[in-house]
Amino acid sequence: PTAPAFHGIHQSGVLQEPGHCSAFLSCDFTARSRAELVEVMQMLTTHARALTTGGPSVPTGITAPSPDTGVLGPDAPAGSLTVTVGIGASAFDGRFGLGSRKPLRLKAMDTFPNDALQPDLCHGDLMLQLVAPERDTVLNAVRTLLRTTRGGLQVRWRMEGFSPPPRPSGSPRNHFGFKDGTASIPAAQRDSLVWLPGGGGEPPWTVGGTYQVVRVIRMLVEFWDRVTISEQERMFGRRKDSGAPLTGTKELDTPNYADDPKGSTIPLDSHIRLANPRTPQSSSSQLLRRAYSYDSGVDSNGNLDMGLLFTCFQRDIERQFATVQRRLADEPLTDYISPVGGGYFFTLPGVRDANDYFARALL
Ligand code: HEM
Repeated sequence: PTAPAFHGIHQSGVLQEPGHCSAFLSCDFTARSRAELVEVMQMLTTHARALTTGGPSVPTGITAPSPDTGVLGPDAPAGSLTVTVGIGASAFDGRFGLGSRKPLRLKAMDTFPNDALQPDLCHGDLMLQLVAPERDTVLNAVRTLLRTTRGGLQVRWRMEGFSPPPRPSGSPRNHFGFKDGTASIPAAQRDSLVWLPGGGGEPPWTVGGTYQVVRVIRMLVEFWDRVTISEQERMFGRRKDSGAPLTGTKELDTPNYADDPKGSTIPLDSHIRLANPRTPQSSSSQLLRRAYSYDSGVDSNGNLDMGLLFTCFQRDIERQFATVQRRLADEPLTDYISPVGGGYFFTLPGVRDANDYFARALL
């Protein structure tokens, strides 16, 4: 698989279908001035451009360290990685004098009613989302980007995710055994739901960017595995085997809420019905969703520590993600999941050409 071109008005990792492996690296700036911040963003751009273009990575001499980790060797696949860069609200505090240029709707992530947020898994000045078909490609990029920005950037938290390849039977399944990623926003509405068009009180440099929400959501799988399949299906509103909505027969069938006003087939408090009631009023809260599973071993009680790296892109976090999240507040699924981390970020406009760099118009 080849990734889309690096240069463009938007960052190519946003619309890209989930790759099999991902890393979410939340970093804080340790740069001490605007000039040092510019250097960090230039370095990120140079290396993200090179890494996403791909090609062989081999040590070039014995007198200098290798240009990257070398783990991909001489036959590294070309163009299979995307690097997506976003900035958190904390980067617009007093340090770099950027306060007046903050994207209008950027703020620190809210705490929602059922959250159990761990401070060491939340927020950050910068989000790097790396996606590739292979894990070694992702890890090479993690190491290369961190090495070349050392001094200006420090990791705050890091999560790695995976999305199993789609099977002939349809979308990949999450840790609860349900197909995930089935419903998506219609292509015709994508531009208006995702990208910032300029105006509306947003600073002009934000055009072509988008807001990203990242949520680290633990899934209590031992508990879940004791629930009957029919009860699980009523929590989601979809069949476990086919992924079809309970009103349909195939994964891609549209849920039929009009003929089920009382929720006797798809419960009114099921995940899909609350997340997207498909009413004229709710259409403006739709979001571009991407999900990766994560596996972090076991916790101190011996329980499996796994979950979902939920991420979504949108024009307005309050109108889209936060509205959907509030509708989901008391869904039955809340007993089986526990949001532990994440953050809100502004995904920068794309790097236009070889002379441009991330956040140039901001800095
Ligand atoms: C749909 C799982 C968290 C928003 C779905 C579906 C599953 C699922 C299985 C149905 C298949 C599909 O259309 O992809 C989960 C799990 C979660 C989680 C296991 C947590 C661990 C969230 C969160 C949000 C969200 C935090 C947003 C606040 C949605 C939306 C849909 C959806 C908008 C599509 C509904 C539709 O258009 O029919 N989710 N989800 N989900 N989920 Fe989640």
